[in-house]
Amino acid sequence: MMVRKQGVRGLIISFISSSPGNLHPPPRDLTRDSTLLEHAYGPASDLPALLRAGRTVTVIRPLLQPDLSAVAEIHARTFPRQRHSREWIECNWRAFPRMQYFVAAENEQALGFIHWSQKSGFREQVVLELEQIGVHPAHQGRGIGERLIRESLPQVVEHLRARGAQLKHVLVTTRADNQAQRLYRRCLGAEVEATLTNLYSADEVVMIARNPLPGGA
Ligand SMILES: CC(C)(COP(=O)(O)OP(=O)(O)OC[C@H]1O[C@@H](n2cnc3c(N)ncnc32)[C@H](O)[C@@H]1OP(=O)(O)O)[C@@H](O)C(=O)NCCC(=O)NCCS
Repeated sequence: MMVRKQGVRGLIISFISSSPGNLHPPPRDLTRDSTLLEHAYGPASDLPALLRAGRTVTVIRPLLQPDLSAVAEIHARTFPRQRHSREWIECNWRAFPRMQYFVAAENEQALGFIHWSQKSGFREQVVLELEQIGVHPAHQGRGIGERLIRESLPQVVEHLRARGAQLKHVLVTTRADNQAQRLYRRCLGAEVEATLTNLYSADEVVMIARNPLPGGA
């Protein structure tokens, strides 16, 4: 994969040049996001050197254009009732900054993704939806889902702060029989506040985390 051969600087350039921001007037805070990307790898780190040394490097970082195919594949595997994964991921990814995607990348191979979206306009007090999270079935149960939530949320919050906004609540909905509820309770403190009967493929629970980053939002 192209990114594999690049150092952090190359990744940052790749992120900037592949960002959906290039389709519209580029959002000013792309520089901030690339700083976050550098932060994910460490400012002085050299990813190729770490890989040559046989190190496994797993980071939670913004989704880059070269990740789209792998993430679409993970989406298709983890949400089998949903169709046209590539189109779904790509059109949402292009809706930055309303929608923000992060991947768990192990040696630059995406193993999982998380999709956050701001609800009901760009408000000062933001209700953020954890819209989807998926980890490749071969890598589930390794704590990647937990890392995706815990390490991407502060990056979104940082972005909100940069425009003078604050995180108010995190909203997440899932099938009433999905054990992911435990993950949301553990990582976010989310609780079920409503159940919607027969919404998509079954009953859907609406969970709200009213203090998702204790001491940090
Ligand atoms: C939910 C999911 C992202 C968790 O990723 P993960 O990397 O396995 O998560 P972790 O290893 O950090 O934690 C595993 C926890 O997720 C729970 N979980 C939820 N759905 C699960 C699934 N389909 N398979 C395995 N574990 C699942 C486990 O019960 C476990 O919680 P526990 O420790 O309290 O028992 C992953 O299982 C997945 O992609 N599921 C299919 C897509 C999905 O249902 N997404 C949520 C709805 S948007």
